[in-house]
Amino acid sequence: MKRLPVCLPAHMNVRMARNIALAAIAAALLSITASWAAPAPAPIILTGADRRPAISLNGEWAAIVDPYFSGLVGFHGGENKDGYFLNRKAQPGDEFPTQYDFSKASTLKVPGDWNMQRRSLYYYEGPIWYEKDFTYQPKEHTRVFLHVGAANYKSWFWVNGVKVCEHEGGYTSFNCEVTAAVHAGSNFVVAAVDNTRHDDGVPTLQTDWWNYGGLTREVSLIEVPETFIDQYDVHLSRTEDSVIEGWVHLDGPLTAMMSETKVEVEIPELKAKISTSLEKIGGVYFHGKVEGLQRWSPEDPKLYKVILRFGNDSIEEEIGFRTVEVRGTEILLNGKPIFLRGISIHAEAPYRTGRAYSDKDAETLLGWAKELGCNFVRLAHYPHDETMLRAADRMGLLVWSENPVYWALQFDNPKVLDKAEQQLDEEIGTSRNHAAIILWSMANETPNTEARTKFITAEAAHARELDPTRLITAALLVKAEGHTMIVDDPLGKALDVIGTNEYIGWYLEHPETADITQWRVEYQKPMIMSELGGDAKAGLHGGENDRWTEEYQANIFRHQLKMLNRIPQLRGMSPWILMDFRSPNRPLAGIQDEFNRKGLISEQGKKKQAYFILQKAYKENSVGKPE
Ligand code: GCU
Repeated sequence: MKRLPVCLPAHMNVRMARNIALAAIAAALLSITASWAAPAPAPIILTGADRRPAISLNGEWAAIVDPYFSGLVGFHGGENKDGYFLNRKAQPGDEFPTQYDFSKASTLKVPGDWNMQRRSLYYYEGPIWYEKDFTYQPKEHTRVFLHVGAANYKSWFWVNGVKVCEHEGGYTSFNCEVTAAVHAGSNFVVAAVDNTRHDDGVPTLQTDWWNYGGLTREVSLIEVPETFIDQYDVHLSRTEDSVIEGWVHLDGPLTAMMSETKVEVEIPELKAKISTSLEKIGGVYFHGKVEGLQRWSPEDPKLYKVILRFGNDSIEEEIGFRTVEVRGTEILLNGKPIFLRGISIHAEAPYRTGRAYSDKDAETLLGWAKELGCNFVRLAHYPHDETMLRAADRMGLLVWSENPVYWALQFDNPKVLDKAEQQLDEEIGTSRNHAAIILWSMANETPNTEARTKFITAEAAHARELDPTRLITAALLVKAEGHTMIVDDPLGKALDVIGTNEYIGWYLEHPETADITQWRVEYQKPMIMSELGGDAKAGLHGGENDRWTEEYQANIFRHQLKMLNRIPQLRGMSPWILMDFRSPNRPLAGIQDEFNRKGLISEQGKKKQAYFILQKAYKENSVGKPE
């Protein structure tokens, strides 16, 4: 077995070492000062957290709406030492009134955005406090993490009044070590979540989706051994046939005994076990030939049980093995050219609406995509959750996953690049083993400025360093000169696959305009039409030139499909969008009612005429065939 150098991408070891050091310092501090001022340890990334046994904290949490954040900030600013995070109860003889009581507060359901749980919170932007009691029994040589699937947008966490972490970013999971804060018997966790949008946020102030706030995905406690597997990457080699390779990274102290312990990657069905010894803290590469491997593909989404072990830690994964690469203007899946018959999807829950989070949400949305004849979905405009990605693995849908660098961020602010890269770390670190994901998208419709191009080029380089096994893309704006669409955004240089958004027939002239439109693409790279379409209110009928009717939307698709076949290097498409979704930018009463109506299906599951036009084209495979 060829042994690879025991090191990981440089930035990872540095950060991991820093985290371990920080966690040690912070843990020391936490044991001395229980105040929230102690520097909270950096949250860590757990790959495949959903594959570990967990103590669920889902369900009803006490909730206090706190628009002025007085539960955290004193009346002259600065910290409120008696903040809500202490979860105090008024005692007889108290000198100072306790003006909050979680046990008397109403509740919010977790997971779930707060906007759709109370009419009074529909438009709410600001902090809301959550509190939950739980019993726990600490175990010898065991560490415990508070796992948060997502908290939009900024969040702070305390356990038994001790600050355990804080986080920025609304669509990626993170994990706060609480080993030093929990004790035997009853405990409580308090969270503050603030969905206020920020000019220096990722995304920034303007988006075209509802700013659903809160603990929008699952929350649990995850127990691991003192030294455990925090991140790992298991994939099929692109260069050596039937070779499984990757790396396993460990967090925690490495005792002398452990240096004799092997890192194991086992695939029982293939009777394969790759054992590699560790030489120092950090990670280890592994590499091993396997016989009889069946590759994952949309037609045959074969998943293998993969068991990763180190000492008394083990994770049982479900992983599909495939390769994806670019050759000239082709996208190759398992070495063969593929056309991506796709659709874009927001994480909007069908029927109930609000932020999607459940297996049922995922299976409904991806079921509609499969029924449409898709082999591909663009999960816009932010990382979707593990339920969606596991479903895509199972159902055989290739995925474009997207970092929410959306529209006009503060591209000249290095702190914003740090935030974008942190969210990329979390997106890729959490979800890097999904066979379904083939594209990491860096951005959507960003303005063509020097600062933007520098920012996203750096972001793309960071993504490549994190994961050299996938393709990098972004959805670009397209310049129209007369009836010629020109794709020459300098950002294209940093991409493997060029995504382009266009709305001929909706934001640009009429559906028939597509018939006389030419395309000039300055890059000899594969291109995906990452957005196209138009609004239609389900059930509203009229002539094919009457905007907002199903007939008009269908007319757009008829003309678009013919035009797409005149773009020689088109290798995929993901029309905007599978299902209507809520957005404050869409107030047209009686038609939009705060929904973007470009869905081919209404949020109540009613399929519009355009759905059947696209479905026919996909089922007959008549699109993606350059004339
Ligand atoms: C843009 C943007 C989408 C938006 C869409 C629209 O292309 O990427 O997020 O919803 O246009 O205007 O409907």
